[in-house]
Amino acid sequence: MSGQFANDVAAGLGATPKTLPSKYFYDALGDKLFIKIMDLPEYYLTRAEMEIFTQQTHELIAALGQNPTLHFELVELGAGDGQKTLHLLEGLLAAGYDFTYVPVDISSHVLTQLEARLLRHLPQMHIAPKIGDYFEQLNILYETETPRVVLYLGSNLGNLTDDKSAIFLEELSDCFKPGDRLILGVDQIKSADIILPAYNDAGGVTAAFNINLLARINRELGGEFDLTSFRHVPEYSEKTGIAASYLMSLREQCIRIEALDQSFNFAKGERIHTEISRKYNLDIVDSIIGNTQFQIIKVLRDSQNYFLDIVMDRI
Ligand code: AVI
Repeated sequence: MSGQFANDVAAGLGATPKTLPSKYFYDALGDKLFIKIMDLPEYYLTRAEMEIFTQQTHELIAALGQNPTLHFELVELGAGDGQKTLHLLEGLLAAGYDFTYVPVDISSHVLTQLEARLLRHLPQMHIAPKIGDYFEQLNILYETETPRVVLYLGSNLGNLTDDKSAIFLEELSDCFKPGDRLILGVDQIKSADIILPAYNDAGGVTAAFNINLLARINRELGGEFDLTSFRHVPEYSEKTGIAASYLMSLREQCIRIEALDQSFNFAKGERIHTEISRKYNLDIVDSIIGNTQFQIIKVLRDSQNYFLDIVMDRI
C-alpha cells in the first residue's frame, strides 16, 4: 500500500493542476473523522438514506425480489459501519428470509468491528465478511449460482468521475445473473445552500478530514507539510451537480517528501484537488448505466427528496 501511496502522491503532486486521490482519506484517523462527518447536522446524506432504510424497509425488501425460501447472498460494497444495513438485515430476518450477509471492505479493522456489532444485535445471522478493494478486484464477486443482491450505498459512486463510474458499473453488471439486484444509493442534485455546508461544516470536521491527507503524507512518507499553511476549499456547481474539494496553499512554499526524495513547489493560492462528490438525477444515472446490462426497476426516496436508493436488475 505504501509503495502505491508513494507513487500516487508523486504522480498527483507532480501533475498540473496538482491532485491527490480521495481514497487515501481513509486511514485510521480518516475513518474516525468520516464517522464524525456522518453525524454532522450539515451532512444530510447519511440521515436521508437512513430514513429510507428505516421508514421503507418493507418496500426495500420487496424490491430485492428474492424468494423467502431460497438462500441468497446480500453483498455490501464498502460496508463501513453498516448502520443503515442493520435495519434491512433485521427486516429480512423478521420476515424469515434465508440469506448470508457479505460485507466487503478494504479495512480488516472495519470488518472485524462490524461483524462483532452485528452478531451482538443479530446472533442468528450468517455473516461472511470479505476483505478487499472492490474497485480493483470485482472478482471478489466470484461466479455463483446463488441469487445475489448487491448494496452500493452512501453515494460512494459519487467519488468517481462519470467515466470511471460507467466502467465500474459495467464490470459489476457483468458479474450479475438474471434475477440478481443492485441497490445503488446516490445523492440528488440540489441547491448549493444545502450541498456546500455538507462539505464545509461549521465545526471544521470536513476540513480536518481533507487536511488529514497531508498529515498522512507526513506520517507515512516523511512529508514536511505545515498543516496550518493549507486551507480546505469546497466548491459546488448547481449546473454540473459536482461538489469538489481542494487544499489551497496559503503561501508560496516548497515541501519535501522524504520517501520520494523529492520536493514540490506551491505558489500562494495554488490548490490540490482532493475529491469530487458527484450529485445525480435519474437522467445522469441512466447515462452512466448506458453501456451496462443494468436497468432501473424502482426508485425509493426520502421524505425531503434529497437521496435516492435505486433498485436495478440485469436485463
Ligand atoms: C464517502 N463519500 C460518499 C463521502 C462524500 O460525501 O463524498 C466522503 C466525504 N467527503 C467529505 N465529506 C464526506
